[in-house]
Amino acid sequence: MARLQAEHVYKVFGRRPEDAVRRLEDGASREELRADGTTAAVIDASFSVDEGQIFVVMGLSGSGKSTLLRTLNGLLEPTAGSVRFDGQDLTSLSDKELRKVRSEKISMVFQHFALFPHRSVLENAAYGLEVQGVPRAERDKRATEALHLAGLEGWEKSWPDELSGGMQQRVGLARALATDADLLLMDESFSALDPLIRRDMQDQLLELQKTLKKTIVFITHDLNEAMRLGDRIAVMRDGRIVQTGSAEDILLRPANDYVASFIQDVDRSRVLTAGAIMVDAGEVLGSTAEDGETIRTAEEFLAATPATVHLDTPVAELFGPCSAGTVPVAVVDADGELAGAVPVRRLLSVLSEGGQAAGTAGRADATDTDATDTGAAQTRTEARASEDATPTGGKKAEPVGGKADADGKKTAADREETAADGKADVQPDGKPDGMTGGRPEDKVIAGA
Ligand SMILES: Nc1ncnc2c1ncn2[C@@H]1O[C@H](COP(=O)(O)OP(=O)(O)OP(=O)(O)O)[C@@H](O)[C@H]1O
Ligand SMILES: [Mg+2]
Repeated sequence: MARLQAEHVYKVFGRRPEDAVRRLEDGASREELRADGTTAAVIDASFSVDEGQIFVVMGLSGSGKSTLLRTLNGLLEPTAGSVRFDGQDLTSLSDKELRKVRSEKISMVFQHFALFPHRSVLENAAYGLEVQGVPRAERDKRATEALHLAGLEGWEKSWPDELSGGMQQRVGLARALATDADLLLMDESFSALDPLIRRDMQDQLLELQKTLKKTIVFITHDLNEAMRLGDRIAVMRDGRIVQTGSAEDILLRPANDYVASFIQDVDRSRVLTAGAIMVDAGEVLGSTAEDGETIRTAEEFLAATPATVHLDTPVAELFGPCSAGTVPVAVVDADGELAGAVPVRRLLSVLSEGGQAAGTAGRADATDTDATDTGAAQTRTEARASEDATPTGGKKAEPVGGKADADGKKTAADREETAADGKADVQPDGKPDGMTGGRPEDKVIAGA
């Protein structure tokens, strides 16, 4: 059942945003609006997320991912459209009601999860509960459990600077888990981590999700991460969602040339499964087995095949079996019934649609090179994404105190986000605690 629903969400920054929405509806482009100094950050975004699902939003820098995410917890009010969580329209709530929903039902985890340096790991993890006004004993108990879930048992009394970057990011995750929020909004939460630690965190999130069944929106510009985590993936370009689908949908049926070029570097061999690429087993019938006999029935095919794999076997594990003989690999379903076949030429044609997989295909030990391969792939992808981002000028450093609005002023929402989500301790003047000058990042312990 859909717990989170976004319908025709627009977010425009600048003057007369409603007029801009009307112009967009009439077909104006983002560039035309930009000429007038108006930024259409999110244009007509619609999607829904079910309980237990991880919905990934991916796109280049400046495509509108973070803005979209901020409309989902009411930090930004959409210029048009609606966001509903459990049927409740967030846009119709008063500020007070919204704060309540936000502190009880929604948690955010950022890229650089800045911890409070002068609070213990436990106190950091309990921060969201403190904001909710949960009594000390109760919040310590829940924060301890959350730290345990995040793999930080035994670190409760440590100080943040005694933890590695990856562990600090886990504290951020624990803080989000401790509040029992059902909706988890994660903005590039793992992007600052080393590839191996990052993969670890992805595994942990997938593992946690099996039991916790949160509703998660996860933002990333890393394709392999998107493919690994996303039950469904939305690809954003210039403020618009250009395709929504499963990893397989997007890899095998890209909606347009943009998506096709975007996914070029994805390691298909890890995302796709035998079930996704298999052909009808009927295609094998009538072909010749190694012994020269013609294969006429499913039974004969199963007897002649060099290997039998399952529907969900990753393609990376098919190279060896597929190259073992002339007969295709047989794919069976959970009941052991023949479901399809993977001829070696099918395997190669699917992989050759993407650049990097071809290199992997030549390696007999592809399945065992796991972490290193993916690490390299991620680094490549990130390098590419940031190169691509440069021409659009979208990437800008985000100060600890939150983003400035179009006029350079910090919005109330940003200040609140900063305070409530713990990017930094905030003093009444909106400055991070202990910040008297210099780069704010120097004053808090960033999550990496
Ligand atoms: N408060 C704001 N005022 C004015 N423009 C903004 C504001 N926030 C975002 N924008 C603009 O909206 C567009 C989308 O920004 P957003 O931060 O959502 O992109 P993103 O996809 O998250 O990028 P990144 O990957 O760099 O984080 C950009 O052009 C950005 O400059
Ligand atoms: Mg962003």
